[in-house]
Order: sequence, then C-alpha cells, then structure tokens
Amino acid sequence: MKVNGKHYRTVWMEGSSVFMIDQTLLPFEFKIFMAKTCKESCVAIRTMITRGAGAIGVTAGFAMVQAFLEAPKIGFENFVLKAKKEIEDTRPTARNLFYAVDRVFEAGKHSVENAIKEAQLMADENIAEARLIGEYGNELIEDGFQIETHCNAGWLGFVDWGSALAPVYVAKEQGKNIFVYVDETRPRSQGARLTAWELKNEIIPHAIIPDNAGAYYMSQGKIDIIIVGADRVAANGDVANKIGTLEKAIVAKEYGVPFYVAAPLSTFDMNCKTGKDIEIEQRDESEVIYQKGLDKSGEIREILVCNPGSEALNPAFDVTPAKYIKGIITEKGIVEPDRLRIGKLF
Ligand code: MRU
Repeated sequence: MKVNGKHYRTVWMEGSSVFMIDQTLLPFEFKIFMAKTCKESCVAIRTMITRGAGAIGVTAGFAMVQAFLEAPKIGFENFVLKAKKEIEDTRPTARNLFYAVDRVFEAGKHSVENAIKEAQLMADENIAEARLIGEYGNELIEDGFQIETHCNAGWLGFVDWGSALAPVYVAKEQGKNIFVYVDETRPRSQGARLTAWELKNEIIPHAIIPDNAGAYYMSQGKIDIIIVGADRVAANGDVANKIGTLEKAIVAKEYGVPFYVAAPLSTFDMNCKTGKDIEIEQRDESEVIYQKGLDKSGEIREILVCNPGSEALNPAFDVTPAKYIKGIITEKGIVEPDRLRIGKLF
C-alpha cells in the first residue's frame, strides 16, 4: 500500500537489518524502525513496534536470519538455538511467529543464504496470500454493504493487503460502495489508530465506534457482515483473535449478522485440538491504565486514564468457538469451521 504516494511493505530486510513501520507511533507519526540485530528485532516484536499475526511472523523469520548471520563459528548451533527460543518467547499467541521461525530455522540448516531466501520468500508469499484472501472475501461483499471489523487486520498486520481488510480493499478496487464500522479495540486501540489510518489513506468511508457499540449497530440492522482477522486457528475451527472478538461473534449470531474470519493457512495450527489449547497472552496493566495520544500542542504524551491505584487486567486475545463463525476466508477459498472439525480443510 502507499503512504504519501510511496509504496511500502510493513516489514522488510536489507543486508542484516530488518526495517519496519513503527506502529507504536501511528497515526501521529510515520517512521521506519531499523532493527540491526536479532535482539533488536525481538524487542520490536515484544513492544509491538511491529504487530499483527502476519507481520509478526515475517519479522520473526527475518530475526531468525539475523541469528544465523550473527552466530559465531564456534558454538554456532547453540547460539542459533538460543536465539530461536528468544524469538519464540516474544509473543505466545500468533501462530505465524512459530511457523516462520521453524521454516527459516530448517532452511538455515543447509546454509545461511538458504535461510535468507526462505525468509524473503515468506514475505512475498504473505502478500500473495493476502491478495487472494481479498479476492475470495470480496465475493461476500455486496455493493452498499456496511462492514464491521475489530482490531487491525489490515496491511499493517501483514506485509501488505492484510487479512480482514483485504476483501475491503478489493471491494473498493472494484468500485463497490462500502462503509466500515471500525471497533476502537481497547486497550491499545489498533482499530481507532491503525485500521482508521489505513482506511483514511485508501479513502474508504468509515467511522470509529466505541468497543461497546457493536451490539447497538447490529441491533439497528446497520451491519451486513463482520470480518475479523485471526492469531491462531485451532483444528476444530475455534479462533483466537484480539480481545473483544468473542463478544462481537456472540452478538452477531443473536442478530443474524454473518461473522467471518480471514486468515492465511499459516495461521492454522492443526496440533492445537481446540481453542482451549491456545495460550492467551496476558499483557501489562499499564496498557489499560495509560493512554498515548497527541496533546493540543501536537506533542505525543502518555496520560493516566483510570483510577489511580486500581489494578487492571489485560488479556490480549480471546477465543471464538467455531459455532459462531460462518466461514474462514483463506488464500485457498472460504472454509466452514465444521470442515476443519472433521479434519478436511478443502
Ligand atoms: O496484539 P496484536 O495487535 O498483535 O493483535 C493481533 C492482531 O492484530 C489481531 O488480533 C488481528 O485481528 C489479527 S492478526 C492481523
């Protein structure tokens, strides 16, 4: 996608450095973060400079390449294994992180050049798959549709195009008249900050709605379809996604709104039998208590927005049972979660 007329990928690697759009500064500042070492890439994933299942995966793959490049001749294997574990420990829920690290690790057993090739290939695949998700998902979107989405599963959460927003971009490309209801997605507000920023850049009509407004709009018949992303899909079709997704899915069922998940097959974890087996990341309470924003003088500031001294809980994801999901939009087509349950993907 383009930013100020220039095409960008969310994350890319040049030489031994990994470059990424700093998502902690958006929408107020557009800046590229450079991670020169594997450790710096790990920090970038942990602190959410880069985020979203697809982007995390590709960054993790590049971090694995950095580990191969940094490893000393003596103790090469130990160094690489330790780095692999460090990358894997950055964030637990997104399946793509583990998928990417494993792929690059295996490729690197042959040669470092092979690891580089594999990581770059994965970044390219990420874009191609997202575009296909967009094309399949677009078939669900009729002219005049009002679409609700949660969190950010747009191009910033992938290398380009995105998962949940890819169908929106393709629908726009085809001249469909669409409107997007963007859940703000507390506590880090990926919807209000990132999805809204993406949609505004692409000139797609949208409005940010408070996290607790989805049921109201659904009850008013304003939402034709909900499309969200996924961080991990279990073998029975249960889906882990940003906290708050489960509520939307339950309400959608009540009001007969079709609820779809968009995710590449690299997000599916067939070793994870059900959603109960998915580890849910618990993040620091400071994300709930403090909010970052632009003050009237144009400075980015962090302020306390809750009662001083009260404890806050901050689960980053929840699991939506398969029974609430009408279909999962993948690069190979749209699959019903029931089909996963009997072990047949397509
Ligand atoms: O914690 P984040 O911002 O990395 O959250 C993950 C997500 O972006 C989502 O849950 C998203 O909806 C699916 S992955 C693009």
